[in-house]
Amino acid sequence: MHTAASLHAPAAGTPLPDGLAPAASPESAPEVWPLTARTVEGRLHVGGVALDALAAALGTALYVVDEADFRHRARSWRASGADRVHYASKAFLCAEMVRWVDSEGLHLDVCSGGELQLAADTGFDPARIVFHGSNKSVAELEAAVAHGVGVVVVDCLEEIERLADAASAAGKVQDVYVRIAPGVAAETHDYMATGGDDVKFGFPVRGGHAERAVLAVAARPELRLAGVHSHIGSQITATEGLTLAAERVGAFVAGLAERHGIPVDEIDLGGGAGIPYLPGQPRLQPSEFTAALREGLDRALPGTRVRLAVEPGRSMIGTAGLTLYRVGAVKDGLRRRFVSVDGGMSDALRPSLYLARYTAWTANRTANGEPVHAAVVGRHCESGDVVVPDIALPDDITAGDLLAVPATGAYHHVMASNYNAQPRPAVVAVRDGRARLMIHRETPEDLRRREAHGEPVDLNAP
Ligand code: LLP
Repeated sequence: MHTAASLHAPAAGTPLPDGLAPAASPESAPEVWPLTARTVEGRLHVGGVALDALAAALGTALYVVDEADFRHRARSWRASGADRVHYASKAFLCAEMVRWVDSEGLHLDVCSGGELQLAADTGFDPARIVFHGSNKSVAELEAAVAHGVGVVVVDCLEEIERLADAASAAGKVQDVYVRIAPGVAAETHDYMATGGDDVKFGFPVRGGHAERAVLAVAARPELRLAGVHSHIGSQITATEGLTLAAERVGAFVAGLAERHGIPVDEIDLGGGAGIPYLPGQPRLQPSEFTAALREGLDRALPGTRVRLAVEPGRSMIGTAGLTLYRVGAVKDGLRRRFVSVDGGMSDALRPSLYLARYTAWTANRTANGEPVHAAVVGRHCESGDVVVPDIALPDDITAGDLLAVPATGAYHHVMASNYNAQPRPAVVAVRDGRARLMIHRETPEDLRRREAHGEPVDLNAP
């Protein structure tokens, strides 16, 4: 009798390509999995909850978040030596997450009116919000002032004027950070480097742009310079660039005091601490990250202790999350086996956008077949729709099995789309044997609601 696995026998026994990453379990590579992930009699559990039970209750694809992992990382950041820790909500945000951030005593970095609204709706103290963004609208700036946002990070000259006008109209004085570009590109994917000379973010120090921006703020009495901000990039694991950037920002601050008598007592040096996605990859620990920044500041500002703020996103929520998929089809290609799952680039954009690499593990049972060269592919109409392009998977994985892909807590749900009219997955939190829904699965009705059916547009509307 043929089993599903034996029908796919041709790929089994074929020599595996050199360096092919093995599938990694929570026991073989705990660094990429949520802290509480365990295999119990072949079934993966997170937060004391069996993932197959979650899949049965909520369907797949499904994002699962380990609350204990997030809280542990949040506490390590609070103990890292930084004076203020802002959680970068762009990595992952929803109302429940806002409450977690609040309960861990973190500040919140938002970068759009939408994120700000979510935080405000959830009752987060606006004074603990820092509002980022590279082209904030007048409406967003007015909302920031109206909500009483603690700090607005100004990123262009237009924003300085718009924000001052909004503060003036509201009869308030708004605290601002000026975002500067110190001319240090982080060693990371080009799309994630933000501090070099040719980036859209902030005011370059070189050429005097940053200094002119500070003077423009100083010229508006409705604005108060609360600090200077810089963020050189994301998924950084080497500290040299961080130290150099901090030193340059420190030198800039020293120059402001010397040349203009403008004091700066807070420096926000952004986020970007890298996490492991594949077995053996390093994590830049919060204390190492902060120490690298302090070293740079100390070099530029010896004997001065400015307040240091940081804005980690991925480092706090990345490995807390995993994505659970159901295998729908297994097909032998000429070079590798395609294990097709019920999600893909609509819920996991990073592999196609940055060629990011992940691992995967069978969640519902022990798959102990021979390893074959496989690709975990999505269900979308593109060849680039790959979740894990090259991995050694057991050859007995078959339709109906569950695959868990770890380290998807950051920049997955927030970058999800409705490509191919695919509803976005639910997000569920697990802790101490209980599961609580954070975000509902999108339904066909949610998608239907956006259809306007050619509704006439009133061109005279204000
Ligand atoms: N602060 C600022 C001003 C930022 O622009 C960012 C990320 C962060 C903090 C947080 O960085 P993190 O600690 O999460 O690395 N979508 C990409 C990453 C883009 C990050 C944009 N800014 C990804 O999927 O890797």
